Amino acid sequence: RGRLLSFHRRPEDLSDTASYLYEEDGGLLIEGGRITACGAFADIRAEAPEDVAIVDHRPHLILPGLIDTHLHFPQMQVIGSYAANLLEWLNTYTFVEEQRFSDPAHGARIAVSFFDEMIRQGTTTAVAYCSVHKASADAYFAEAQRRNMLMLGGKVMMDRNAPDALTDTPQTSYDDTRAVIAEWHGKGRNHVVISPRFAITSTPEQMEMAATLAREFPDLHIQTHLSENLAEIEFACSLYPKAKDYTDIYAHYGLLRENMLLGHAIHLSERERDALSETGAVAVHCPTSNLFLGSGLFPLKEFERRDRPVRIAVATDIGGGTSYSMLKTMDEAYKIQQLRGERLTPLESFFHMTRGNAEALGLADRIGTLEPGTDADIVVLDARATPAMALKMEAASTLAEELFLLQTLGDDRAIAETYIAGRPAKSAI
Ligand code: GUN
Ligand code: FE
Repeated sequence: RGRLLSFHRRPEDLSDTASYLYEEDGGLLIEGGRITACGAFADIRAEAPEDVAIVDHRPHLILPGLIDTHLHFPQMQVIGSYAANLLEWLNTYTFVEEQRFSDPAHGARIAVSFFDEMIRQGTTTAVAYCSVHKASADAYFAEAQRRNMLMLGGKVMMDRNAPDALTDTPQTSYDDTRAVIAEWHGKGRNHVVISPRFAITSTPEQMEMAATLAREFPDLHIQTHLSENLAEIEFACSLYPKAKDYTDIYAHYGLLRENMLLGHAIHLSERERDALSETGAVAVHCPTSNLFLGSGLFPLKEFERRDRPVRIAVATDIGGGTSYSMLKTMDEAYKIQQLRGERLTPLESFFHMTRGNAEALGLADRIGTLEPGTDADIVVLDARATPAMALKMEAASTLAEELFLLQTLGDDRAIAETYIAGRPAKSAI
């Protein structure tokens, strides 16, 4: 029982009340890990079994669990590393730290912290890069299954421009990815993602292997990085001189498709934007990372407004990103649009964190809403979590104001509870 909020589609503006369901005294009926009814509390109470256990979350908001569409599992100890730009940050810290994940015990230890942190932040689904080592993917998916979370992830493919201890070969990257798929895809709620890191760290021979995997597994997601930093773009294009531009490198190998996630995608030409639009590939906005590494200001509104719109998602990009919180992530996304002279309403932000990201993943029939039949992955938000928030809430009179306050001042303290498949998970940590 609580105040329910679930989106039907992206809100046009703050007055677009038809874009979402809001129930002031609402109820969700949960059975077997699924939502079986959603509506006014009195109606749900009437149709529920007599002996049903009622959890009263009033006056908090009940939303679908938050979704993070791009982050790096082996970068929990990279977060907040001081560097001038992406390539310096990768070489100085990231490619050093990720080597530790050759040790299965290290991966297993970090996985516990990683999933605890997701739950503490209200993130119920995430799409992660593991390290190049198959053992890191094993650690990630084993912990996801233990927690019964719907998680996506993949063993990173990278065979050049990184230390020897962090590279595979075209053949081993193919074999190990096949093995991860065989062992983990569909186990529990796990989804394996084909994960060539980016054009700079894959030879054309390895890209061919990624292309083969993509053909063999058309239903699997693919993830990589695209057009994050100007020096990166120049380096990538120099390694693939026949490509028209950075996007064309991936297009050449047939990787652009609806279930393809392109991290960052900041500095794209019109031609590249058209290529994403035509194929349905998703540009993933990573605001805290783009600010931290000085990468650039993602043109979110331009992507949405085009005649041929580019699909977008939002993400933390830990450890280039600086917060695990999707609330903080959208706070920074808002500020980036401010600098671009654009508006990002709080309704849109909460749409993107939930249903928007679920749609980008093609999983809106399972997660991202409170609709009956979907998985009971749920977050409970407390807009009075801190004294400063409680004081500001006295001056807030609309739902949009409350959401904007949660986004602007909220963090893990505002996550009153996180439910995974119907079970309280945050209070159980
Ligand atoms: N490009 C290639 N690898 C990475 C990474 O780990 N983080 C970020 N932000 N960009 C990348
Ligand atoms: Fe990344």
